[in-house]
Amino acid sequence: AAEGVLTGQRLVITAGPTREPIDPVRYISNHSSGKMGYAIAGAAARAGARVIVISGPVNLDAPDGVEVRPVVTADDMLRESERAVSEGCDVFIATAAVADYRPESCAGDKIKKTRDAMSLALVRNPDTLATIAARPDAPFTVGFAAETTEVARYATDKMQRKKLNMIVANDVSTPGLGFNSDHNAVTVFWPEGQQAIGPDSKHSIAAQLVALIAEHSKKVGN
Ligand code: PMT
Repeated sequence: AAEGVLTGQRLVITAGPTREPIDPVRYISNHSSGKMGYAIAGAAARAGARVIVISGPVNLDAPDGVEVRPVVTADDMLRESERAVSEGCDVFIATAAVADYRPESCAGDKIKKTRDAMSLALVRNPDTLATIAARPDAPFTVGFAAETTEVARYATDKMQRKKLNMIVANDVSTPGLGFNSDHNAVTVFWPEGQQAIGPDSKHSIAAQLVALIAEHSKKVGN
């Protein structure tokens, strides 16, 4: 992104997976590496923003000039995101792959394999992005959508339902793109338009996304 396009702006970005504990040694999670979110954080910091990343467990170093606040579960991600937004936030970007469900309870001790079959009761997790977008002081809010079919329709539905300013759709059915890869291809939707970016490296896509977000968040006037 062009230097300085986000000078003075405060960004909060969620990144990576969440982990939902089953017992002291097991959890439910997904293949998110955090690379997309960290690449956006780095590009935004280079564009002059103050950036906080609310990060699930990943193996990445904090980009230069970015503050990383580590979290584990979806509940932690919501709490820390709300805290960071309350400190002052102009743009909120949700790249995290949050587990939609968590085990109803976490067993106190390691579950023994005494039965041939077992089932796990799951309950819905809170939605960080929708919660932030519904705040009376909502920042310019950007969601991501990882879809395998009808990418455009599901993504624009999600933008309207969650009251977002912008949504970045990735087709995660394409081999070598999306989850855990260094590359991605996205289509960005906002109420009046859309733009395809990539396939390209996540770093290059991040720089182009930051430029687009800078342009549109100014228009909305947050
Ligand atoms: O981390 P990488 O390996 O680099 O991969 C990047 C990515 C593919 C994970 C990323 O580009 C991406 O698409 N992230 C969103 C993945 C996703 O799970 O989307 P979703 O359709 O479940 O959720 C839609 C939006 O709501 C997302 O912005 C998500 O962060 C947010 N959400 C979802 C559920 C929830 N409980 N809380 C949320 O904030």
